[in-house]
Amino acid sequence: MKETIKKILDSGVQAPSGSNSQPWRFSVRGKRIHVEALPEKDHPVLNFRNRGTWVAHGALIENISIAALEYGYTARIELFPDRKMPHITAKITLEMHDGGKSPLFPCIGRRTTNRKPYEKKTLNESQKNEFLSVLSSEERPCVRLIDGQEELKSLGEVMSVNEIVMFENRRLHNLFFKEIIWSDKDRTPGLLLDTLELKPPQKAALRIFRYWQATNLLNKLFSVGKKIARDNARSYASTSAIGAILAEDDDTAFINAGRTMERLWLKSAEMGLSFHPVTGVLFLRQVFMAGLTEGFSNEHIHLVKEAYGKISSICGAKDERIVALLFRLGYGGEPTATSFKLSPNITFED
Ligand SMILES: Cc1cc2nc3c(=O)[nH]c(=O)nc-3n(C[C@H](O)[C@H](O)[C@H](O)COP(=O)(O)O)c2cc1C
Repeated sequence: MKETIKKILDSGVQAPSGSNSQPWRFSVRGKRIHVEALPEKDHPVLNFRNRGTWVAHGALIENISIAALEYGYTARIELFPDRKMPHITAKITLEMHDGGKSPLFPCIGRRTTNRKPYEKKTLNESQKNEFLSVLSSEERPCVRLIDGQEELKSLGEVMSVNEIVMFENRRLHNLFFKEIIWSDKDRTPGLLLDTLELKPPQKAALRIFRYWQATNLLNKLFSVGKKIARDNARSYASTSAIGAILAEDDDTAFINAGRTMERLWLKSAEMGLSFHPVTGVLFLRQVFMAGLTEGFSNEHIHLVKEAYGKISSICGAKDERIVALLFRLGYGGEPTATSFKLSPNITFED
């Protein structure tokens, strides 16, 4: 059983996480797995109320449930099983099962973030339907696929507001550069430089921008943060579609949004499509709405709130639901590099 659980969790931890933080560990007794979150590994500002961590755990749990089927088990999942242990995101019990396997299992190891500009080739109706076919009837109303050229252009512009704040705010700037892994010889969690898909001059510039004093001066002289955002806006809009996942404003909803995202991401891998989450503005807006604005300029707060207003209107978020996640979907070709994953940290209790 231990070997099977190791294999299942090995597949689980191939999941995406904010800046590849891999904020999880596991304790196992018999066929019961406790999934524990380590939110301190995630971004101290953007990980508002641990919601980035919850999304990553959603993806992790989705992988575990798909992999369990592969090894002859159904994963019975209880989210947040104990109020006294809020960092235990799931209690998973494996039950014998002789039914089918998931066609998405082989995609777990192929799934990757692809940050390249994508071709501007629209998806036809049957491709869109096939992509969305992995959603349950409850999930379907929470997912939007936007592919009108005007809307993509507007979304690209507002999504890139994150880069304006990131290059103009000292704290966010320093935190971003702390997450970058500059050499692929460093086999550690974090954002590997080559996965950012920068052109050689951009890569060279990034080595200068890592110093706040240099970035600050270049912002004053040449508005460099705004220029980077303009370039990224074009790259974000260069895609077949932008997808949105809407969620209610609570912890369980963010775990479920992560499960939905992962299933769509695996399906995109099966269909030969590239996928790229872009979430900075969404999380920053939640931070500001909660009044956590210390250290941010009024200009940035206004820019982010205005950007979210446009996102929410284009994505048709209403009632209790907010736009929890945005992703690009399209034809990006092979990514230059893929991120490094740690083996799962498992404590066997018996
Ligand atoms: C909650 C969440 C938010 C993310 N937001 C972004 C984002 O704003 N921009 C981006 O380029 N990647 C984003 N990602 C992708 C991660 O950086 C990526 O999953 C991680 O670096 C691991 O790489 P992999 O997906 O190729 O395994 C996000 C992932 C998660 C789970």
